[in-house]
Amino acid sequence: MSNHAPSCTKSDIKKITKKLSKIIKLGDCVLLEGSLGVGKTEFAKNLLSAFGIKRFACGSPTFPIINEYNYLNNKIIHIDFYRLKNYGEIEDIGVPSYFWDENVIVISEWLNLFPKFERQVMKKENSNIWKVKLEFDKKYPTTKRKVSIFMGHH
Ligand SMILES: Nc1ncnc2c1ncn2[C@@H]1O[C@H](COP(=O)(O)OP(=O)(O)OP(=O)(O)O)[C@@H](O)[C@H]1O
Ligand SMILES: [Mg+2]
Repeated sequence: MSNHAPSCTKSDIKKITKKLSKIIKLGDCVLLEGSLGVGKTEFAKNLLSAFGIKRFACGSPTFPIINEYNYLNNKIIHIDFYRLKNYGEIEDIGVPSYFWDENVIVISEWLNLFPKFERQVMKKENSNIWKVKLEFDKKYPTTKRKVSIFMGHH
């Protein structure tokens, strides 16, 4: 399946995220998946820009686990699960409440490290769950990534 995924340069990612930002609604979640260094944060940053957010903390070496941004009168949250150790920690920093908030858009990296929690998120009602799968492209290892986007409930 991913063999057919289009291969995207950074500028293609910019275009894709612009389009996505027009159809993502409050309450939706964007789950970024893919191996280490494949471009999840790059995608997240472009999506945040497309939502009109100008300054973001992600990308800095001290990038915290959760970043909160104001979006219209609501919020966009970017969460990186990579350094979280267990579900207790996830709860301690209030992550689930963001996912269930109808007025928040959540963009996550590495949620797939917590399959049980991910399955709960996938069942969220009245909102769309967008899965963005990023893969390295052997032909263009430094300039492109394969991108597949799925929407829906499982
Ligand atoms: N579409 C793309 N084409 C080419 N290079 C890209 C693309 N997207 C991202 N990159 C580059 O890949 C590198 C890693 O990007 P990024 O930090 O976004 O990955 P990540 O998936 O968030 O990594 P991590 O798993 O550590 O969170 C960066 O140097 C970035 O510029
Ligand atoms: Mg990242």
